[in-house]
Amino acid sequence: MKNIQLILIIVILFLVGCSTDVEEELYPSIECQTAEMSYTADILPIIESNCYQCHDAANNFGGITLEGYEGLKTFADNGLLVGTIRHESGFSFMPQGAPQLLSCEIEKIEAWIEQGTKDN
Ligand code: HEC
Repeated sequence: MKNIQLILIIVILFLVGCSTDVEEELYPSIECQTAEMSYTADILPIIESNCYQCHDAANNFGGITLEGYEGLKTFADNGLLVGTIRHESGFSFMPQGAPQLLSCEIEKIEAWIEQGTKDN
């Protein structure tokens, strides 16, 4: 029963999402800016609003804290950050119990790592 309710919620959210005409949501790959990613300006806001409720220093669920640059860098370096947000097989799917991050948010995080995981 729980699964059916979850699937229904996801379908409804998907339909609602498709009926809005926000350009950024309709054309994420066209609108997505991934050049010269900044930890503070681009990456931190995504992690703060999607992950800190379970993974800040106070609520470090699963012993995982993503708070601050050093906290996040550890999981960027060991591959768990990208594996969990991309929902790759063999990884826990994050954010847990919530829809996957927008593809543009995932692209920004990957670009930040490719650009050297800078503390900027
Ligand atoms: C509602 C709570 C919740 C949210 C929100 C959440 N997580 Fe988690 N996360 C957990 C729990 C609980 C675990 C430990 C159990 C597990 O691995 O599933 C975990 C584990 C992890 C792990 C370790 C996985 C492993 O295989 O060792 C990573 C990395 C992670 N989360 C990243 C994230 C990221 C990145 C976000 C935001 C995009 C996020 N989490 C959002 C609850 C959450």
